[in-house]
Amino acid sequence: MAVKLLVTGGCGFIGSNFVRLMLRTHANWSIVNFDKLTYAGNPANLRSVEHDPRYRFHRGDICEEAAVEAAIGDGVDAVVNFAAETHVDRSIADPEAFLRTDILGTHVLLEAVRRHGVARFLQVSTDEVYGHVAEGSSHERYPLAPRSPYAASKAGGDLQVQAYHVTYGTPVLITRGSNTYGPYQYPEKLIPLFVTNLIEDQQVPVYGDGLQVRDWLHVDDHCRGIEHVLLHGTPGHAYNVGGGNERTNLEITHRLLAQLGKDPERYVRHVEDRPGHDRRYALDTSKLRALGWSPRVGFEQGLAETVTWYREHEVWWRPIRSGEFAAYYRQQYANRGTE
Ligand code: NAD
Ligand code: TYD
Repeated sequence: MAVKLLVTGGCGFIGSNFVRLMLRTHANWSIVNFDKLTYAGNPANLRSVEHDPRYRFHRGDICEEAAVEAAIGDGVDAVVNFAAETHVDRSIADPEAFLRTDILGTHVLLEAVRRHGVARFLQVSTDEVYGHVAEGSSHERYPLAPRSPYAASKAGGDLQVQAYHVTYGTPVLITRGSNTYGPYQYPEKLIPLFVTNLIEDQQVPVYGDGLQVRDWLHVDDHCRGIEHVLLHGTPGHAYNVGGGNERTNLEITHRLLAQLGKDPERYVRHVEDRPGHDRRYALDTSKLRALGWSPRVGFEQGLAETVTWYREHEVWWRPIRSGEFAAYYRQQYANRGTE
């Protein structure tokens, strides 16, 4: 069956991997990619599908009703919302854009979905909405307890999505993914930041003691999880998508140092911690596993391939690191105390 998707935020990290994977695996799917092209949106991420007749790019802001209306055009079968401000440190420095895109933008999309009677709306969310998890793991029924402006904005989006289902019967789905890694990730996030710093022979800034725990998920597994929920999920439900792969930041750091042949003594710099830093995220993924999804990419192999990808794609990340990113990096790290 021919399926037409509207993907928002498709020029970012996970969105661009999703667009490529869906076009590769579904011959009869077509995709409109609606993206504002913020600092994180990069058309180069989708160069390989630019000329595919099943793909169309539409530049626009999800907060603007008229632009969203134009992108939905004469109808789509589903909307998958990746568009968001996504970096916790930026949300601490300046939360407003997060409230706008992650909350207001989600509202504008939900209204468009309602007007057009779109059959599925999938909200791509995060494990960070559950907040810090001291022990055990977060189930989808757990209360949302976000602790950073980013997580609070994403939780605001999730709550609206759930309310639209209850109030208007909008056929919504939510995925809550864990920390994702892989090719095309903007180098502000832990793994691509550390890899590109080390390739440039710079130190890596570990926040605090580095013993914070994240559950790492390869981007292909995350995209297949979203696809699985889109195809098999029950409207009104949320699904956790996690790798079952908890690691401390220091473990990740030492793996990257080893792969890039760098001495930990010289290259690790413990810096002042992030305010309100969540110590641990952990997801219970039994609900999505019961639907038939499970992660396929082993962490050691996935991480090694990711390092190789950054080594072989300097042409992708060097222009990013010398652009807007350079000013961001100075502002974020230059005056940060050492711990
Ligand atoms: P990203 O920062 O790499 O990309 C975000 C994309 O959204 C960019 O292309 C940007 O131009 C676009 N965008 C931002 N504001 C927009 C607006 N107002 N209108 C239209 N487009 C806009 O993000 P990512 O890491 O690919 O994350 C995608 C989604 O997955 C987000 O919703 C995020 O919350 C969620 N998520 C990310 C992770 C992760 O580890 N990266 C984990 C779980 C969930
Ligand atoms: P990040 O990639 O920003 O994802 P999130 O905050 O959404 O989990 O960070 C992952 C972990 O790495 C988090 O515990 C913060 C830590 N971190 C550092 O120690 N140093 C850094 O420079 C960055 C960007 C992150």
